[in-house]
Amino acid sequence: MAGPITMIDLFAGCGGMTAGFKAARGYKPVMAVEWELAAAATYAANFGEQHMHWGDIADVPDKLIPEVDLIIGGPPCQGFSNLGTRDVNDPRNKLWKEYIRFVRHAKPKVFVIENVDRFRSSSEFALLLQETAPGGLLEEYTLSHDLLLAADFGAPQRRKRAIVIGSRIGKIEMPERTHEPSELLGLRTWRTVRDAISDLPRVPETTELPSISAEFFGKTVPGSFKSHDLHLGRRPTPLSLARYDHVPPGGGRFNLPEELLPRCWREKKTGTTDVMGRMRWEQPSLTIRTEFFKPEKGQYLHPQWDKDDPNNRVNRPITHWEAARLQTFPDDFVWCGSKIEIARQIGNAVPPVLAQAIAEHLKPYLRGKVPAARTADTLTTLESTRV
Ligand SMILES: C[S@@+](CC[C@H](N)C(=O)[O-])C[C@H]1O[C@@H](n2cnc3c(N)ncnc32)[C@H](O)[C@@H]1O
Repeated sequence: MAGPITMIDLFAGCGGMTAGFKAARGYKPVMAVEWELAAAATYAANFGEQHMHWGDIADVPDKLIPEVDLIIGGPPCQGFSNLGTRDVNDPRNKLWKEYIRFVRHAKPKVFVIENVDRFRSSSEFALLLQETAPGGLLEEYTLSHDLLLAADFGAPQRRKRAIVIGSRIGKIEMPERTHEPSELLGLRTWRTVRDAISDLPRVPETTELPSISAEFFGKTVPGSFKSHDLHLGRRPTPLSLARYDHVPPGGGRFNLPEELLPRCWREKKTGTTDVMGRMRWEQPSLTIRTEFFKPEKGQYLHPQWDKDDPNNRVNRPITHWEAARLQTFPDDFVWCGSKIEIARQIGNAVPPVLAQAIAEHLKPYLRGKVPAARTADTLTTLESTRV
């Protein structure tokens, strides 16, 4: 039997990406780096404390970086205004220099970067492209990149993410989608909010996490919490409740009557329609971000809303458990941190099923069972040397 594919997860957060790679089987995390204590603790509680380096990536000495088959995880992008800036001394590029340092020392066959949808028009991406060009620090690597929609890979969520696959074993194309909005291509249909959360109690029993704590990295953190501990209600004011009650599925702040509008919205007649939005049962959710517990931040109201029966409406934002479900975390995943920290971990994560699809796609290449495509450059070289 082939040995495990060893991997490092950089900027690991709570480990959404690692969860997907582990679910694909055959992958073994040997190092992870994350500087937020609560996120690192969540990672440690699920995947082991020993190989998690809790701290700034810049403080990991070269000699501690093991050689591995794969690096996953991308630095958070800090800015997009400087499109085309090639200045490697730009402080915003610091984290990318760290990433490149890890790739140079760990010498992975493949690396996978996940980032926000606008990533490919950022100065950070320009830097990466520059380094994979001939003469660059990553010149051995060939990149493929695309925007992938999590719903196309089995997540009940329309989350668009830029994915980059860097390979030094020949170019590896992007995975093919497995799901589609409606049955046109014979794929499975998109999973919906109903599929993900309809079995969870509509009325959460509590508003607070249990008072328990755990030790990780010599520090005490709140946790570890099970999924059902995360089913937390809130205490909305009567005014907030009246607002929520006016919003039908797919609707938002534009459904509020004038007298219920906060002044800022009354004065701003245009803007995004997601705000104070209500989900739809039969569709995937929109992107779950880090403040999903605030209805004014997006389309986060529970989808249950009966037009004719006001008693059959659920007037609250989704709970942390529901958000974790929409992000496809399995129910046996455990969590550490405050309510706000856990929400950040959930909203920042790569949906594990998306990561799993990428992991399954890469596995045969990493095991040497599928020869990756020769790149145009390689082909030209081969062609021109044939006499
Ligand atoms: C988008 S999140 C990663 C999510 C993760 N891939 C997942 O699937 O759960 C980015 C993470 O990078 C971490 N981070 C940012 N700067 C860092 C640094 N200098 N050193 C270590 N971690 C850092 C943040 O705390 C955050 O958790």
